[in-house]
Amino acid sequence: MHRIGEEEIEAVARVIRSKNLFRVNTGNKETENFEKEWAQKCGTKYSLCVSGGTGALACALAGLEIGPGDEVIVPGYTFMATATAVLMVGAIPVIAEIDDTMTLDPDDFERKITGDVKAVIPVHIMGFPCNMDKINTIAAKNGVKVLEDACQAVGGSYKGKRLGSIGHAGAYSFNYYKNISAGEGGGVVTDDRKVYERALLYHDAGATFRPFISEIQETPFIGSQFRVSEITGAILRVQLQRLDGILADLRSLKAFLAEKVQGHKNITLTRSNDPRGDCGTTLSFTFPNEEKARAFAKDVSGSLPIDSGKHVYSNWDPVLNKKGGHHMDMNPFYFKQNSGLRSNYTKDMCPVTLDILKRTVYVSINIQWTQEELQTKANQILAAADRLG
Ligand SMILES: Cc1ncc(COP(=O)(O)O)c(C=O)c1O
Repeated sequence: MHRIGEEEIEAVARVIRSKNLFRVNTGNKETENFEKEWAQKCGTKYSLCVSGGTGALACALAGLEIGPGDEVIVPGYTFMATATAVLMVGAIPVIAEIDDTMTLDPDDFERKITGDVKAVIPVHIMGFPCNMDKINTIAAKNGVKVLEDACQAVGGSYKGKRLGSIGHAGAYSFNYYKNISAGEGGGVVTDDRKVYERALLYHDAGATFRPFISEIQETPFIGSQFRVSEITGAILRVQLQRLDGILADLRSLKAFLAEKVQGHKNITLTRSNDPRGDCGTTLSFTFPNEEKARAFAKDVSGSLPIDSGKHVYSNWDPVLNKKGGHHMDMNPFYFKQNSGLRSNYTKDMCPVTLDILKRTVYVSINIQWTQEELQTKANQILAAADRLG
């Protein structure tokens, strides 16, 4: 749903003409400037641009010192990458229920806390903000680190704070489907210098040899490779300028539709933890049963989240089957330190999540809708609700 145009072409051309496409020490500062601008937008002290959302989650987890012997709570409704990032750093994902807001159920998070749980990843799925007050309170009480997965919620907010900036760290995706995009891309934000430095080291195995290494207080360690080129940085700088306009348009289209259809006896809009901070990409409806949800979805060209493939934990086959690495000895499920941790996954382990996903219908907001098309959509939704009897 991002917008892209001539300004991005100009920005890319500028970088190519300079012949300096590498982000380190070549004279260009596109990525560095994007990081500063993104930190400013999010209201955080530090930000790091990386090659994708999965990498951003892994960098943030490495930044938070999560590793073998640790459990990390993830919701059962999120793209599988939230769980696989946990495995990338050698820890074990523990899957928890969502609640009627489609996001992590804080009570189930609390129920699942043991001494082994070192972090939680609330996911602002579809741009719907999590209950960050409750999650942060429970986490603080139990010494659990909070990493927000804001990959699907770039620019959204909760009680006036940008999503991703509320926990200890936040991760974003700038892939093709996101609110702003460079085709691929990701970001980490945090207020914690140590987390930032460790994420920086982890995102670039070569960081050990970089000119800025003298400013780093953390002892260098070998990480991986999630760097971006100056082309990504240049595109994202332009994209960032479009972000608030995109969100304003999406929110106003969604608000119009919501206003037109709520009040109908067969319509219940899905509860939100912060309707004002919601990204506006999706209007969500909750039904008493799957039969009604399917009938409604068919009539409004909507979709049920239960059908969203690798966003539903019961379809995370590599996780459920403990295929956590390319080699037996690099597979966290078989690490000695992880032997006592909870990884006895089953397809029906989160029944509340599956039930909610079956009774929910999403209607995507199309940023290009004209006023007439919007009204047609509202009429279609009301007619579909009438047919539910
Ligand atoms: C909730 C969530 N987390 C993580 C990711 C991973 O992002 P990327 O595809 O940029 O690696 C995605 C991507 O769609 C996502 O939706």
